[in-house]
Amino acid sequence: MQVNIIGYEPSRELEWLDIHASVMVDSAAWWIVLHRKPGYPQPIVDLIATVDDKIVGFIVIEISPEIISEINPAGFVWEFGVHRDYRGHDIGKMLINKAHKIMNREHEVNKSIWYSQDARAQSYYRKLRMKEIGRHWQFSLKPGKDLKKVLKEDGFDCWNLRGSCSIEDFARAKINFDVIEDNETLKPRICIGFEYIK
Ligand SMILES: CC(C)(COP(=O)(O)OP(=O)(O)OC[C@H]1O[C@@H](n2cnc3c(N)ncnc32)[C@H](O)[C@@H]1OP(=O)(O)O)[C@@H](O)C(=O)NCCC(=O)NCCS
Repeated sequence: MQVNIIGYEPSRELEWLDIHASVMVDSAAWWIVLHRKPGYPQPIVDLIATVDDKIVGFIVIEISPEIISEINPAGFVWEFGVHRDYRGHDIGKMLINKAHKIMNREHEVNKSIWYSQDARAQSYYRKLRMKEIGRHWQFSLKPGKDLKKVLKEDGFDCWNLRGSCSIEDFARAKINFDVIEDNETLKPRICIGFEYIK
């Protein structure tokens, strides 16, 4: 199988969104659907993997974004996946290697930061010998009557809220809030951060 790792072109947006949606189906990493390819304030490394000119994988890394201001200079991985029919052929590794080559060459950055709440992705990152840098809970909750009322006073009818807390605080959050547990997409998961240096 001939795999090419090349730069993403905006003319392929719909094809990119299709494969992204398909990868989302079997990973807990995402809880929202993308309808447009997101833009980013900082420079990005934006690559796709193709087989027979069809997109089968993608990676998007933003260089030194605000979200990891205390870690920068580093690349933050926003999007990464390989279509299930093409997994196990080193395509994920090829995407990471090429992205790091470009980060080093064009941005003098040798570190990437990966966060995922998907257990299989976490085991993949460990397999690639990435180092854990932190973990937290991510979850959604139904606002209580009082909070709903406060928000409604300002014109916002709130259905649910999404956020995170430290591992230690989660027990308290479950007591204090109506955490949504019975929804496969939104249920609480531990999100683990990793760093990769190359
Ligand atoms: C994670 C993902 C990108 C891996 O892609 P891939 O192209 O199949 O991975 P590779 O072929 O590069 O695998 C490299 C090595 O990791 C191993 N591996 C693959 N998936 C693994 C997993 N879940 N856990 C542990 N090891 C894994 C492979 O066996 C291979 O090992 P080897 O070098 O000893 O042969 C792919 O499974 C995927 O798209 N998952 C869903 C999307 C997702 O969760 N993305 C991360 C969002 S944060």
